[in-house]
Amino acid sequence: MSKLHHSRVPAYLDFLQSMSGLILALFIVGHILFEASILLGPDAMEKMTLFFEGYYFFGARYPIIITLLAAFIFALFILHAALAIRKIPSTYLQYKTFKTHKDRFRHEDTSLWMVQVVTGFAMFFLGSVHLYFMMVNPSKIGPYLSAQRVVEGWMWPLYLLLLFCVVLHAFVGLYRLALKWGWFEGKNYRTSRKIMKRLMRAGIAAYIVIGLASLGTYISIGLHLDETPAVKVDK
Ligand code: HEM
Repeated sequence: MSKLHHSRVPAYLDFLQSMSGLILALFIVGHILFEASILLGPDAMEKMTLFFEGYYFFGARYPIIITLLAAFIFALFILHAALAIRKIPSTYLQYKTFKTHKDRFRHEDTSLWMVQVVTGFAMFFLGSVHLYFMMVNPSKIGPYLSAQRVVEGWMWPLYLLLLFCVVLHAFVGLYRLALKWGWFEGKNYRTSRKIMKRLMRAGIAAYIVIGLASLGTYISIGLHLDETPAVKVDK
């Protein structure tokens, strides 16, 4: 392999890491909103479930669509993690060198990188559990079945941790991507950077609030399943 050829590989892998991260972040931005349909009531969440099962297109439910989607997301998730860990040791060395100056400079971007490492590491476990379950139990989704899993299936502690990890990771990731690729870069770099940082913080706050409200609603439905006459947990 020529030297030139060799030197292109890291750039290509870096691009793949960015692209997979972008798709995963956009997926999460949608996911948390779709799943927040529970805030509008069980019927809204039921309709959302039917939509993703292709009911409104094919006139019948095809949970296999969920399996395929989850398998695709899982593959991206693994690819993204594999590409990211390869950079941890070298970036960590730079980080350590930097850390001596960090207190003086308070270099925020190195701190943001640490946020990505910690939340990313936690998601190896938290994200995998959830994705695997969705992939193999695609027909067990719905306002009551989900609520039952959250409470009786003891998923709520996992979702609580996962929510914080994924929201931080996705928005910090989008912010870093925007800087790296120079998106929305106006005439003044400092100003656009400030605006992007504000957008990142607003995104994190909004999604944590929405996610917590949804999780609270699933928990509340799950705790009162016995008193719900119309529970259809036998799909
Ligand atoms: C195609 C793949 C996925 C499907 C079909 C899916 C589906 C769902 C559903 C139906 C719920 C509601 C609770 C339940 O039914 O147990 C849920 C909750 C949740 N999911 Fe996913 N999910 C997928 C991928 C992911 C990924 C990749 C992540 C993050 C790495 C994630 C993070 C979460 C979180 C944090 C919650 C709780 C949300 C809250 O607190 O409001 N999901 N998911």
